[in-house]
Amino acid sequence: MQLSLSPPFAFASSLYSQVVFLMVPGVLFCCFLLLLVFHQWNRPKDKRLPPGSMGWPYIGETLKLYAENPNSFFFNRQKRFGDIFKTHILGCPCVMICSPEAARIVLVTRAHLFKPTYPTSKEKMIGPEALFFHQGAYHSRLKKLVQASFLPSAIRGSVSEIEQIVLRFLPSWKNTTINTLQEMKRYAFDVAMISAFGDKQDLETEGIKHLYHRLEKGYNSMPLDLPGTPFHKAMKARKLLNETLRKLIQERRQSSRQGGGLLGVLLGDKDNKKLNQLSDSQIADNIIGVIFAAHDTTASVLTWILKYLHDNEDLLEAVTREQEGIRSKIVEANRGLTWDDTRRMPLTSRVIQETLRTASILSFTFREAVEDVEFEGYFIPKGWKVLPLFRSIHHCADFFPQPERFDPSRFEVPPKPNTYMPFGNGVHSCPGSELAKLEMLILLHHLTPTYRWQTVGVEDGIQYGPFPVPKWGLPLRVGRRNKSATP
Ligand code: HEM
Repeated sequence: MQLSLSPPFAFASSLYSQVVFLMVPGVLFCCFLLLLVFHQWNRPKDKRLPPGSMGWPYIGETLKLYAENPNSFFFNRQKRFGDIFKTHILGCPCVMICSPEAARIVLVTRAHLFKPTYPTSKEKMIGPEALFFHQGAYHSRLKKLVQASFLPSAIRGSVSEIEQIVLRFLPSWKNTTINTLQEMKRYAFDVAMISAFGDKQDLETEGIKHLYHRLEKGYNSMPLDLPGTPFHKAMKARKLLNETLRKLIQERRQSSRQGGGLLGVLLGDKDNKKLNQLSDSQIADNIIGVIFAAHDTTASVLTWILKYLHDNEDLLEAVTREQEGIRSKIVEANRGLTWDDTRRMPLTSRVIQETLRTASILSFTFREAVEDVEFEGYFIPKGWKVLPLFRSIHHCADFFPQPERFDPSRFEVPPKPNTYMPFGNGVHSCPGSELAKLEMLILLHHLTPTYRWQTVGVEDGIQYGPFPVPKWGLPLRVGRRNKSATP
């Protein structure tokens, strides 16, 4: 027999389920509050979160960050709350670090407590096995290999190849208006390709160039993987890039011709203990990763150098005299530029150093606390983002007097320890710093004695794409230098 509920029972039952329906969220909410209170109690009594404002629920201070420019957003909060402050941006609770000592703790002395963190969309585009995203044994194995490829001893032989690239580019600028950022990107990309694959470029590397440019177009897009979106197109290019790279890797493995560049080094590596080789995808992700890291960064800094030299005529003439001195010796000896020549460019090197400081194109980097951390008298909960603000340290008057002035002579004496970090610090610091500086020196060596440039349009300002660069990528009218007109 089937039991059926009479109406009063049915009513009582529905009332019961309504009460339960209403109670469950209430109980859950109470549990959540209790957990929150418990969490607060559990926090070390003498420790507190850093000062600062978390803004509105969910959106935090994100709108304020976009409404102000990022530099004044950070500057105003540092002035109000001090060198370590909290905020909530882009959906994440964050702690901002503006003092050299605290930045060193995050990046060097207690780096194991703060792992690098990137949006998943970026990881997918670059490749999840690229070294940026890792810590520990895998990271240090790859870091050693990448570092070895870009040490001065490894890159000194590339001077003449890089010089050839410069000599191909520069004549095409004469008597035209160039978009400086785009031209510098083409230059830095060609150098990155040589660094990645060696000087012998084959058919595959042409395909790789083409696919990389397709990938790049979607790099800063909304991570919306739907047909037709820039992100979707970029992900398709990334897949094809993977296939092309794997083909090249297989060919080089089979022919036992590892070839030059970083690819050759990665193919040749065998883990000492297990004698295991890096897999195809580990190699592919790291090759793409290095091209990515080498390219927009160097191009953005080069764009700023041309802007600062344009705005500081006397400095441009002094750099030109330094380069002419070297040029005349080279012409006399009927030879090409060498690594040793590039070590005799003190003023040009200081211009590069000061540009790296003033422009601070990597304004900050992201880390995430891997556990609850007690930090300089504050408490940083596990999962919070921690951002050392390189730019704020580079623009602090205590370390760099009159910080907004472009003054390369300040580098005639070394900066105070840990106050100058254009290439980061600690385990994740940049392995490509020497190559980046070399590219800049070689370009300036050929540019300054022969060419002069004028900005087109009057609009001064900064655009972010993703690094800060002069507005519109700095359009310049380039012409031959009139030597008789120079002082
Ligand atoms: C002026 C140009 C450049 C600047 C300003 C720059 C800056 C930086 C900074 C600040 C970091 C550290 C990021 C962090 O700690 O989270 C970094 C990491 C890195 N850079 Fe550069 N970089 C430049 C050029 C290059 C070049 C030419 C290469 C390639 C040869 C390169 C390869 C890398 C790699 C592979 C990493 C990741 C290292 C790791 O995670 O261990 N960079 N760069």
